[in-house]
Amino acid sequence: MKGIILHGGHGTRLRPLTHTGPKQLLPIANKPMSQYCLESIKSTGIKDIAIIIGGIGSNKVKEYYEDGKEFGVNITYIEQESPNGIAQAIRLCKDFIGNEKFLVFLGDNIIQKDIVEFKKEFETDDASASILLCEVDNPSRFGIADVQDGKIKKIMEKPKDPPTNLAVTGIYFLTREIFDIIDRLKPSWRNEYEITDALQILLESGKKITYYTITDYWKDTGTPEDIIHANQIILTGMKPYFHGIKEDRVSIEGNVMIGENTIIRSGAKIIGPVIIGKNCEIGSGAHIGANTSVGDNSILIRCNIEDSIVMSGCVIDCKINIRNSIISNNSEIIEKNENKKIFLIGEGSKISL
Ligand code: DAU
Repeated sequence: MKGIILHGGHGTRLRPLTHTGPKQLLPIANKPMSQYCLESIKSTGIKDIAIIIGGIGSNKVKEYYEDGKEFGVNITYIEQESPNGIAQAIRLCKDFIGNEKFLVFLGDNIIQKDIVEFKKEFETDDASASILLCEVDNPSRFGIADVQDGKIKKIMEKPKDPPTNLAVTGIYFLTREIFDIIDRLKPSWRNEYEITDALQILLESGKKITYYTITDYWKDTGTPEDIIHANQIILTGMKPYFHGIKEDRVSIEGNVMIGENTIIRSGAKIIGPVIIGKNCEIGSGAHIGANTSVGDNSILIRCNIEDSIVMSGCVIDCKINIRNSIISNNSEIIEKNENKKIFLIGEGSKISL
């Protein structure tokens, strides 16, 4: 079997975070979200993976994953000129897939379920496709499966009046039969070639589609709130480690992961789950609270932060409470004790004072 990761799209709902790069590279617990997809595919034994790239900063995807060797896989990059739909992106992989069955992962889907058994079953089964379903509270935001008596009756994209709350997650086991169907697809109301429409045509032509309903954590990280939530869940499941340097009178509680050469200064307080990358400095006035990730080379001298993501190369030195925030690479929040605030803010930024 082969694998495909969708790494294209516009990432509009995550602006301004996606002005300079693809959303799938945004870090969750200090790792790009698409790396969780890659590791999940790799865990099934699949080694050959195509990554669909396109849109802003797609060169950053190549720079990060290179040929895949460092991640134990072989990566082929396939360019999608414009994001005209998941089905269109999959169609671009026809030659790469050849005659094999394949597994597609949307690069913004975070899943905790081990999918090894699903892959094994699909390999030997005569099903034309297999999908993972998950109960959701807001079904009109997703592809939905109408399941009756253990069988999928209908698959539809973001229905206004959903017949069930069973979302079709962004993890699809497929065969090459899907390519001919995609060739016959018409664009949907959102002007995209939908994978859900292709699956519906498979069903209508009498083909077998199996499904599994997963109850473990699954998230389509479409909004900043989704990313902060996924960050919290992943951090909670991580094993603690400490590779840094700790001065006296440091207070550390709970699950804490600290990278090499990170120095925690006297007086600093950390309450896990928290991950702090390499070469960081956590100053005496810093209180790093639960569900916070701090990327490599960041300096947090003063601040009280919780439920947030601070990426790499940031500086925070300010008497301020930061909550539910995402702070991009190389940003600074500094208090200069002057009676004026100075902002240099990129397009679409959000500041709540
Ligand atoms: O996450 C699950 C949902 O994903 C499913 O329930 C829906 O059926 C499915 O259509 C999809 O819905 P979204 O509206 O969330 O899809 P989105 O546009 O966010 O794209 C999903 C991923 O695929 C994202 O990582 C970007 C990438 N993509 C998307 C398009 C449209 C591409 O690489 N190329 C594309 O042309």
